[in-house]
Amino acid sequence: MKPIIVLLASALITLPALAEPWGNADPKVGKEHHDKACVACHVRLYGGDGSKMYTRDGRLLMTKLDVLQRVATCNSQVKAGWFPDEEAEVAAYLNQQYYHFKE
Ligand code: HEC
Repeated sequence: MKPIIVLLASALITLPALAEPWGNADPKVGKEHHDKACVACHVRLYGGDGSKMYTRDGRLLMTKLDVLQRVATCNSQVKAGWFPDEEAEVAAYLNQQYYHFKE
């Protein structure tokens, strides 16, 4: 391989370490998925708009990766049928709107 290609390839490999765990997923689309599949049950539990689920004392999540994993778990538990890119959009939305985790 030519050195320039090796350089480019290694830049591509190190890039994701700096990026968000959900890549550049669009939080606006995530809100739509979330409101459709997730809100009703959280509202039943916490009332209001259900968002207290994400802001309650003793909430479970600490990092961006936790948010992404939790969304994936909930997706399969409630059979929302999302693909990973939809999980990513919802995680991006929840972090932007509620969790505000920096890492
Ligand atoms: C059938 C009811 C139900 C549905 C539907 C549901 N959830 Fe939940 N969710 C819960 C319950 C109950 C908890 C609290 C779990 C606990 O305390 O261990 C929870 C907790 C969470 C948390 C963690 C809150 C925190 O910070 O402590 C996230 C994030 C979450 N849900 C996302 C989702 C997403 C995304 C969906 C849609 C795919 C979804 N939930 C659908 C019942 C539901």
